[in-house]
Amino acid sequence: MANIFPRWSNLLPIKIAICLLSVAGGLVVAFSIYATPKSLVVGYQPSQPIPFSHKIHIDQLGMDCRYCHSFVDVGGAANVPTGNTCWNCHQHVLKDSPKLAGLRKAMDPAFPGYDGKPVEWVRIHKAPDYVKFNHSAHVNRGISCQNCHGRIDQMETVAQDQNLSMGWCLDCHRNPEKNLRPLEEVYNLKYDAAQYIKDHPELGVKTTEELGLKLKEQFKVVPKTTCATCHH
Ligand code: HEC
Ligand code: HEC
Ligand code: HEC
Ligand code: HEC
Ligand code: HEC
Repeated sequence: MANIFPRWSNLLPIKIAICLLSVAGGLVVAFSIYATPKSLVVGYQPSQPIPFSHKIHIDQLGMDCRYCHSFVDVGGAANVPTGNTCWNCHQHVLKDSPKLAGLRKAMDPAFPGYDGKPVEWVRIHKAPDYVKFNHSAHVNRGISCQNCHGRIDQMETVAQDQNLSMGWCLDCHRNPEKNLRPLEEVYNLKYDAAQYIKDHPELGVKTTEELGLKLKEQFKVVPKTTCATCHH
């Protein structure tokens, strides 16, 4: 009996397999792009009404985060400072700089464009409304701003550093020890765990893993992973 299938059909199973693979591959790519929209906001860096630089104020002038974000270790939300906080210094420092026009507009009745309205900073990090987040629960338990916001002290303009997705939160809640640091180092974004161990032989730890485990025990940290921890 003659072969009822033409010769090219011998290749059909391979072609089907290739098709299926590329569809599956496409789905994985599509899923990671569309099903996790937060991956799109890493790097979000809107321009701000005043070209405020964290690099100048932290790295160069040595200011502490809490000078401006004064609720970060006492409440759920970290506040962005009001114009008063800036004006304390800038009524004396670089007052006539064009970069400070946005501040004088809010604070200085002697300024031609003065309207007394608060500076409208553009919000960058935002969890959805159905998520409960709490800053003080983290920073008072040895989790640094750096873990979630990156090297803010090096940023001329703030950009989002992490995707803030549920998987990202859970990753740390399941294994917090690799992210814990001594409480006095939480606001120090130049912290180096290996150096800290060298400088503190009295702790009796040799590796960064051991330091993490020791701090976990000391702070009695047991992050919860039940849904109600983070959802209303
Ligand atoms: C001199 C005041 C000042 C100091 C000190 C300061 N910040 Fe800020 N921070 C601001 C202002 C003003 C904004 C809003 C404008 C902007 O995003 O740059 C801001 C914005 C931010 C944001 C983004 C907020 C959002 O909209 O999502 C983060 C995160 C942040 N700061 C972290 C830090 C950390 C971490 C430190 C300490 C290492 C710090 N800041 C120190 C004034 C300050
Ligand atoms: C503790 C005092 C202090 C506070 C508070 C402060 N600054 Fe500054 N800021 C300075 C100093 C000092 C400089 C100049 C740094 C340099 O150039 O060496 C500066 C520089 C600046 C510049 C750059 C100006 C230019 O012409 O280069 C801007 C813009 C600015 N600050 C905005 C702000 C804003 C907005 C706030 C409030 C969120 C603020 N600063 C809070 C002390 C302060
Ligand atoms: C465990 C992760 C985590 C740590 C640690 C953390 N943040 Fe945040 N931060 C967030 C998240 C998530 C948001 C968005 C919160 C929301 O929308 O409710 C945020 C928002 C902010 C905002 C915008 C205003 C607000 O409250 O939503 C500022 C300012 C800020 N963080 C500053 C800081 C500073 C300063 C530190 C360190 C002292 C810090 N954060 C530590 C995760 C963190
Ligand atoms: C880098 C590590 C880390 C990340 C990232 C992180 N957490 Fe946490 N979280 C912790 C630790 C550590 C604690 C403190 C646990 C304790 O006190 O036992 C905590 C505590 C909390 C609490 C307080 C729970 C209670 O016991 O009352 C909430 C709510 C929370 N986290 C929500 C979040 C959400 C939402 C995110 C993501 C947007 C997040 N966390 C990201 C480490 C982290
Ligand atoms: C440590 C904090 C945390 C815990 C615990 C947690 N979630 Fe979430 N969840 C988040 C955050 C943050 C988001 C928003 C970001 C995102 O969509 O990934 C979120 C988003 C979601 C969404 C919306 C997803 C989407 O893509 O729109 C659902 C549904 C959800 N969570 C269900 C749950 C359930 C069910 C549990 C318990 C098994 C749970 N979560 C536990 C932090 C948490």
